[in-house]
This record gives sequence, C-alpha cells and structure tokens, in this order.
Amino acid sequence: MLQSKLPAVGTTIFTRMSALAQKQGALNLSQGFPDFAAPEALRKALARHALEGHNQYAPMAGLPELREAIAAQLARHRNVECDPESEITVLPGATEAIYCAITACINLGDEVILLDPCYDSYRPAVLLAGGVPVHIPLTPGTFRPDWARVEAAISRRTRMLVVNSPHNPTGAMLEKEDLETLNALVANYGLLVVSDEVYEYLVYDGRVHYSALQFDALRAATFAVFSFGKTYGVTGWKTGYCVAPPALTAELRKVHQFVCFVAVTPVQQALADFMCAEPDYPLTLAALYQGKRDLFNRALTGSPFRLEPSAGSYFQLLDYTDITDTPDAQLCELWTKDPGVASIPISVFYQQPPEQHLLRFCFAKQDAVLQQAAERLCKI
Ligand SMILES: Cc1ncc(COP(=O)(O)O)c(C=O)c1O
Repeated sequence: MLQSKLPAVGTTIFTRMSALAQKQGALNLSQGFPDFAAPEALRKALARHALEGHNQYAPMAGLPELREAIAAQLARHRNVECDPESEITVLPGATEAIYCAITACINLGDEVILLDPCYDSYRPAVLLAGGVPVHIPLTPGTFRPDWARVEAAISRRTRMLVVNSPHNPTGAMLEKEDLETLNALVANYGLLVVSDEVYEYLVYDGRVHYSALQFDALRAATFAVFSFGKTYGVTGWKTGYCVAPPALTAELRKVHQFVCFVAVTPVQQALADFMCAEPDYPLTLAALYQGKRDLFNRALTGSPFRLEPSAGSYFQLLDYTDITDTPDAQLCELWTKDPGVASIPISVFYQQPPEQHLLRFCFAKQDAVLQQAAERLCKI
C-alpha cells in the first residue's frame, strides 16, 4: 500500500472554490487571478513569438534577454544590482521557485519557520524535503510578525524562514523595520530566507514595498521570489523568477533542472519584449488595484461586514463577526450558493486557526463584478 508523503493534503481550496463558483454560477472572488485582459502588446508578443517558431527549449536558467530585463527592472525600481548570469533564474511560476529553493536547502529534520496564515505551498514543500515546518502565528489583528516570538522559536535545527510581503491572504505588508529586524536575525543566527514578493507592485495608499534584496545580510541569504503572473496579469502563463546570490542560485538550479528544466520559451520572449518596451508598466498597477479595492470597500459601506485594512496584494479580508458564528469554511460554501459570491476561508492558511471570522475576497476583478458582488453581500 502506498504511504502518502502528504496525507493531510487534498485538492487546494482555490481549485475547490473556483469549481464550486463555476457550478453555482457565483461571482468568483475566491481565487487570486484577474478576470480582465492583460496588456494587448504582451499577448500579441506571445502570439508573434509562437508563430515565428520560437517553440523549443530555452536555456535552463531562462532566456538571457529576459534575465537582463529583470536585472534592469530591479536596478530601476529597487536600486538592487544583480548579475543576470549567476543570480537570476526564470522558472515556471513562483510556486516552483519556492519549491526548488526549499528542496535545495532543507535536509532531513531541518526546521523551517513559517508565519501563519501563509500561502499553502510552503508547508508541503518543507515536508517533501524531510524538513519540519514550525508555524508561528502573525499577530492577530495587524498580521505583523511578532519578532520576539520568531526569535524564541529559532533552535539549533532552524535552517530557514519564509516571509511574504505584500501578504496573501491578509494584504498586510512588512515595514522597513520588520526587514531590519529580520536582517539582524539572519545575520545573528545564520538563517536562509525565502522572501515571497509576488505582489511587490500591488501596494496602496502610497506605501513602499521593501525587498529582502535591499538589506545586506538578507541579500546574502535570501531566495527572493517573484511572479510575472501577478505583475503582468497573466497567472495562467505560470512564469516567475528567483533572485539569489550565486551559491544559492547554483543549488536552486540543480533542483529546477530536474523538476521542470525550463520555463516556456515564447512566454519568456514576450515578457522580455514587453519589459523592455514598457519598463514602468508595473508602477501603474498600484493605482489600478487600489481603485478596485476602494470600489469594493465603498460598495460595502453600510453592510454589517468589518473591513480589515488591505495595504497590498489582491486581497481584502472581511470580518463577519456581526453576522454569524458559522465557521468560515462552511460559510464560504453557503455564500457561494446564496447570495452567489465565492471567497476563501482564512482558516485554511493556518496550521492551528485561531477563533476569528474572516473571509478573503480577491478584488482583481472587473469593476462591474466587484460592484455586483458587494451589492449581493450587502443583502446578507
Ligand atoms: C503568496 C503567493 N506566492 C506565490 C504564488 C504563486 O505564484 P505563481 O502563480 O507564479 O506560481 C501565489 C499565487 O497565488 C501567492 O499568492
């Protein structure tokens, strides 16, 4: 009899809720993807490259022109210098980058600190590597890390810490001081870091995203992970990249070349073209998505929901304490059927969910969809 390596894992909540939304004809604010078109020039570039015959394997680390474009973007927007040859790897999605980074570094019994709630791929990646996930809750209410608690959890076996900012599912962001504290911890304890920055450009109300790459000790110990899917609105293209110092990159690539080997060629070419032609396109995203967040939140004015602050990401948490005591997972299913709005229960992002009544809504949707979803929610 096969002994499952991931006995507690089933089909992800995102797949289940999207399927239920489709079956019920509900408005789907569950899964994190835009329901509107990506830039036409980007889509045309993909078609052009496929038609021109760029359909064979790319170099294992990614197309050189795309890695150059990534390095130029990091220099332009983050003031970070990195070598495209030895420090940037293009992979099929941030999820694979996270998996490869963890697999490359974690040995049997190594502990990895995860901050709950967290993106659902981190824990299985640690378990598959034979590591031990150590879950520390983010501070309830603010969803900021309690660094004293994180430091207290560091043991002889602690090898890595995973952080995510802007944060899925809460929309919270790490402040500069958080990264300074993390930088000191990494220097003091010799830890590695996976810094999941896939929502780096989706930051609101004038906030600034700080990358782990901007802090010295972190720069030397971090796999920083990014997603073209999120930044260019093409989540179905499943292409992302990892920036890490040469020694870490070399290990990451050893895993990547046997997990997937390469990312898709014409997709990489299209992204490289678009990044060169429109280097500041990502800077337009904050206003676009902030407008969507605000539209959704305004339309909920007068409803019994409490709106949690959303500083960045695609997500808005709604607190339904004043409506019902029903557990969030059950409520998500009920509300997908009637009034027909799909969301994600926040408890699925925890190892040990605390007592709270929060649902995650994705506002990367057309304005009319957000308006209609809010109207339905107001009638609850
Ligand atoms: C925090 C976080 N990290 C990583 C990913 C995965 O990105 P990709 O689609 O590029 O694998 C997601 C996607 O939802 C995410 O929310």
